Amino acid sequence: MNLAVVILAAGQGTRMKSRLPKVLHPLAGRPMVLYVVHTASALTALPPILVVGHGADAVRRVVGERARYVVQEPQLGTGHAVRQARSAVDPEVDTLLVTYADMPLLTAEALRKLMEVHRDRQATVTLLTVERDDPRGFGRVVRDGQGRIRAIVEQLDATPEQATIRELNTGTYCFDAAWLWEHLPHLRRNPVKGEYYLTDLIAMAVAEGRRVEGVPLEDPTEALGINTRVHLAEAEAALRRRINERWMLAGVTLVDPDTTYIEADVVIGPDTVIYPHTHLQGETRIGVECRLGPNAIIRDSTLGDRCIVLASVVEGATLEEGVDVGPFSHLRKGAHLARGVHMGNFGEVKNSYLGPGTKMGHFSYVGDATIGANVNIGAGAITCNYDGERKHPTVIEDGVFIGSDTMLVAPVRVGKGARTGAGAVVTRDIPPGSLAYGVPARVRRSVEGAGAPGSEEDRGS
Ligand code: UD1
Ligand code: CA
Repeated sequence: MNLAVVILAAGQGTRMKSRLPKVLHPLAGRPMVLYVVHTASALTALPPILVVGHGADAVRRVVGERARYVVQEPQLGTGHAVRQARSAVDPEVDTLLVTYADMPLLTAEALRKLMEVHRDRQATVTLLTVERDDPRGFGRVVRDGQGRIRAIVEQLDATPEQATIRELNTGTYCFDAAWLWEHLPHLRRNPVKGEYYLTDLIAMAVAEGRRVEGVPLEDPTEALGINTRVHLAEAEAALRRRINERWMLAGVTLVDPDTTYIEADVVIGPDTVIYPHTHLQGETRIGVECRLGPNAIIRDSTLGDRCIVLASVVEGATLEEGVDVGPFSHLRKGAHLARGVHMGNFGEVKNSYLGPGTKMGHFSYVGDATIGANVNIGAGAITCNYDGERKHPTVIEDGVFIGSDTMLVAPVRVGKGARTGAGAVVTRDIPPGSLAYGVPARVRRSVEGAGAPGSEEDRGS
């Protein structure tokens, strides 16, 4: 079988009532169209042909090199859309798998089964069908007394009797390519919608005595097609269950899967425990034996093994092994917490490195800073990194003790082993081993000598 996959994604998606093209609406954090593109790539090495139209440029930007493109302009229906793809299909191709970009939950296994039946029965057309009580506006699969498929009737054209049929068209088909190209030009516009319906080809094949087969989906949730935002939420819930089950079977504990939100591209190590109302988003990787939540939001971040994040927001950050954060802290882009860092409550770290074993327990802001190992950042200490125009760096070397409520006015460097007194406003560099205190801070040369009269030097002016 020489196969090409054609994905239809040109429609406007009017029923979404959105300025964003329907197929770009995200599902579990990934634009809808990428699911079908991804599934197609599991079937054949050839990139799928994506028929684009409405919002074509935006769709192209998102899908990039993962597909080849054909533009359908104007959009005159699904039959018209497939016709546009002909020029992009290699003449060697003998089988065309056509599917719709608004069916993101279909699995490669279901499509493989469709292809197998199509090949084994040497059919002209084989369609993937689904049995559901709620028809969702899908086309009905009309069979005769012997159970042979006769036609697909769209909802708007169905007789009251046909409307009760439970077997529905998923919009995914295998076609004999030569037969398809020959017959597409013979489609007529549907009188109700004025479109060329791909589904009219079924009755055409039947009328010619061709073999038409149907393959029912084993799991009807795979056919949760998306036409409205109600469908979008249903598909999101189904996908969430699928993703959560996958991680549980891989050794991750989800205390309450119904309130655990893991996006499609996240990776989680075994024996990690996730508590309710936790969101893992974007390109996030979690190590083994972590404890996340309740109420954690972690986006585009990497966490090493045995990290703890409680009721906190972590975005664009890196946490090495054994870091604990929260409750109520915020790690922002470029925060890098080395092994064993403790960051307690109401802390914020942005674009900064905190060295191994450093502690920052209460009410602190650290921005644009490089902090060494085993530093203690006292309650309420702040890097004043912004002068109203520009951002400036702070450097804190190993073993420093920053007293409570210290303001570090950047650019500034605190030398190894130095200390600051409570409430110090540090405007100058502090040499290693010395103590700075007061407003503005004065420096006492060595911490050991602290209290010895005469060792004081006024650096505050
Ligand atoms: C279609 C099927 C219906 C099936 C249902 C399953 C037809 C006529 N009907 O109905 O039998 O049960 O899907 O989901 O095929 N598209 C284009 N160009 C167009 C029109 C549509 O590329 O001119 C694309 C859309 O972007 C979408 C797909 O084709 O991805 C399906 O179009 P849509 O309007 O959603 O068809 P349905 O009404 O859902
Ligand atoms: Ca649809």
